[in-house]
Amino acid sequence: MKTISPERLPEFLRRIPKAELHIHIEGSLEPEMIFKLAQRNGVSLPYASVEDLRKAYAFTHLQSFLDIYYAGASVLIQEQDFYDMAWAYLEKASIDNVIRAEIFFDPQTHTARGVSIETVIKGLSHACKAAKAELGVDAELILCFLRHLSEEEAFETLEAALPFREHFIGIGLDSSEVGHPPEKFARVFARCKELGFHLVAHAGEEGPPEYIWGALDVLHVERIDHGVQSIRDAALMQRLAQDRIPLTVCPLSNQKLKVYPDLKDHSLRQLIDAGLCATINSDDPAYFGGYMNDNWLATFSALGLDASHAMKLAQNSFEASFCDAVHKQKYLDRVAAFADGFA
Ligand code: ADE
Ligand code: ZN
Repeated sequence: MKTISPERLPEFLRRIPKAELHIHIEGSLEPEMIFKLAQRNGVSLPYASVEDLRKAYAFTHLQSFLDIYYAGASVLIQEQDFYDMAWAYLEKASIDNVIRAEIFFDPQTHTARGVSIETVIKGLSHACKAAKAELGVDAELILCFLRHLSEEEAFETLEAALPFREHFIGIGLDSSEVGHPPEKFARVFARCKELGFHLVAHAGEEGPPEYIWGALDVLHVERIDHGVQSIRDAALMQRLAQDRIPLTVCPLSNQKLKVYPDLKDHSLRQLIDAGLCATINSDDPAYFGGYMNDNWLATFSALGLDASHAMKLAQNSFEASFCDAVHKQKYLDRVAAFADGFA
């Protein structure tokens, strides 16, 4: 591969084709859209203005963010709202040269407010279909269970979602991590595996390496979301490298939630150097100060990464994706062709 000068690296990072594998669609709701939807649906917000809401985005840890994130999602009522939210994200993803997106959604956040799961799934799914046709972004959905709720509630959500199963490819686990270990969801994940869904789980964001072991050995997930705490456990690092278990790392999220208050201290470089299939993602871009390319640019700058790291991270993102082998190869070929043609 030819060398890319430091001056041209930002352009290389912006333009390289990539997959985003860790984006909560409710976390893409910008304050402006929260206010627009609140007005459209007659929902009252405890904030006087967009600026007032933005000022509340001063997080100290995961839970301090989640409280505001769930409040923001309360404006989503109609199928059109879910469509508009997903479409706005997909347009931004397309500008960032994200050509494959695997998008998390939290149905329980909405069904708890009386919104039907059909409304949620159909709105999101229509946006994904439109994105393929109009933007060339290949987008799929992953349904997440909220881990602060019970396993029984996760089973109920799964049952309610099954009539719409052709609209999502996988199952994930998110929300408050510490105190809610993977083992709590062993039975429902076993059922989801039987049903043929891809499986992922947040683990090792704030929680200990034991939660990552649990996600692997009890939930049998194919990818770990975050997973940055694996750096504290050499045997776990070896397991992740050996089995090519991808980590969907979210640097700006980790900075904003004080996992790594200074991006310069982020473990991503060590994870890559140890041979792990690490990827860069945005998590909740509207809350954490950036979409995909913002995450790439900030991380490369803070850690002094170069174009060879960019190639590795882009290749990892497609290797880690749940698309079929033919598409995977096609996307990897696009990365190679991009690098060859970069002038
Ligand atoms: N839900 C949305 N963002 C999340 C995060 N970073 N961790 C856990 N649950 C989430
Ligand atoms: Zn997340």
